[in-house]
Amino acid sequence: MPLAFLHKPIYARRIEVLSKIIEPHLSSGDHILDIGSGGGALAAKLRSEAAAAGKEIAIQGIEKHPRGGEEVETLSFDGYQIPCEDGHYDMTILADVVHHEEDYMQLLKEAVRVTKKYLVIKDHTPRGLLGYRRICFMDWAANNPYGVKCLYRYFTAEEWREIYESLGVSVKVELESIRLYPEPFNLVFGNSLQYLAVLSREGAGE
Ligand SMILES: C[S@@+](CC[C@H](N)C(=O)[O-])C[C@H]1O[C@@H](n2cnc3c(N)ncnc32)[C@H](O)[C@@H]1O
Repeated sequence: MPLAFLHKPIYARRIEVLSKIIEPHLSSGDHILDIGSGGGALAAKLRSEAAAAGKEIAIQGIEKHPRGGEEVETLSFDGYQIPCEDGHYDMTILADVVHHEEDYMQLLKEAVRVTKKYLVIKDHTPRGLLGYRRICFMDWAANNPYGVKCLYRYFTAEEWREIYESLGVSVKVELESIRLYPEPFNLVFGNSLQYLAVLSREGAGE
């Protein structure tokens, strides 16, 4: 497939950028769950980024569709109920997962339930000229090789904030533009089409 050779360097840069954004929010001894962890590359990179910063963390993945040969320990689950008690994980991560889940509110509520401190959401936001179409193409190209179903449904930053309000979480950091890919891919698929929020569970409807 002609796009396949582009995927590796683009994906590697994405993982590196995301782990550098997330790492400062980690503390030594933290237990992290990467929900919808795919092959586990982000979780593995985050662990090595934290180690380079002198922090020892424990990180697991959990997947609706485990691929086999994951880079971190990966639990399998039904996509709805995470098998652990409330507040078990210091941090949970949903990186480009919510837009693949039909029952996204159940998934988000479950992520909040098992989170003690921070929930990280990385997703796409449709903005700018043909923004929605550009995201759809990128989503299809990145997920088609793995057979991951695309719903082609993405929230704006305003819609995300309404969701956070209904979940009872507060925004610690919100990035509405990320230079996620190598140049020149950012011009078409990166920057304002990329969104990340670090949410705090402090005061979450207890
Ligand atoms: C685009 S991939 C992202 C993989 C990884 N998070 C990353 O950032 O590289 C989306 C992944 O989410 C998984 N997924 C979708 N819905 C899920 C759910 N409800 N629970 C767990 N995993 C889910 C898919 O199987 C797929 O592996």
